[in-house]
Amino acid sequence: MTKTIINFSNVSKKYGKNEIISDLNFTVNEGEFVTVLGSSGSGKTTTLKMINGLEKPTSGKIIVDTHELDKCDLVELRRHIGYVVQSVGLFPHMTIADNIAVTPKLLGWDKEKIDRTVDQLLDLVSLKSEEYKNRYPGQLSGGQQQRVGLARALSTNPPLLILDEPFSALDAIIRQNLQQEIKALHQKLENKTFFFVTHDINEALYLGDRVMIMNHGKIEQFDKPEKIVANPATDYVKKLIATVRQNKKLWEEFK
Ligand SMILES: Nc1ncnc2c1ncn2[C@@H]1O[C@H](COP(=O)(O)OP(=O)(O)O)[C@@H](O)[C@H]1O
Ligand SMILES: [Mg+2]
Repeated sequence: MTKTIINFSNVSKKYGKNEIISDLNFTVNEGEFVTVLGSSGSGKTTTLKMINGLEKPTSGKIIVDTHELDKCDLVELRRHIGYVVQSVGLFPHMTIADNIAVTPKLLGWDKEKIDRTVDQLLDLVSLKSEEYKNRYPGQLSGGQQQRVGLARALSTNPPLLILDEPFSALDAIIRQNLQQEIKALHQKLENKTFFFVTHDINEALYLGDRVMIMNHGKIEQFDKPEKIVANPATDYVKKLIATVRQNKKLWEEFK
């Protein structure tokens, strides 16, 4: 049976008088890779932050796994949600191993288990543990730092990972490598749910099992990529798809 891991019902969010999110309703199933696509200011980050309680809805109900967000311990909840952001946010004065081990240490894991986990996680994100674990973040490239950010988010083996434009600051080739790797990673880590925000339509269509397209705090369409391309539901989605076709045409002209 399919298990729901995120459930938004009638969720709205206002800042002052401005309604940023309007009556959002959706569910995400366990194991899905959902991408959230929308232009800057469409409410993607706000939606993502409501999942781990960093932002609270003005009205409506959010359930994550079995926890009703306005009734649960958010600190405890966040231990079950890995969080990856564009700026990575590694602690510069801590080694890579210590950065990955922050939460395991807080949870009081013994040293042996922590060391073993750090090795496994670095291996998972294709960084040689021996070579990298004692370095400091400043001694790594942007792409390598983001791999560490991913490893850190996975340190407590959370069922859900939320990612806010994790690759947006990286250049094209590194970015494409990481897209391929995160897709493979998701397939390898069975039953983990990824909720991945991006403003890049190619990234959203490539990575998502389903793609949620947001505009002005509303969902325009939430469906499989091939369905969205074949049947764009609104004018906004049609325009988005047209940008990809336009690019494709441009490349044809270069041939
Ligand atoms: N703390 C805040 N106070 C007031 N307005 C905010 C705040 N955070 C975000 N907003 C506004 O909410 C809208 C949606 O922001 P955001 O969720 O960050 O969009 P996105 O991630 O899609 O770019 C934007 O218009 C933004 O200016
Ligand atoms: Mg954002």
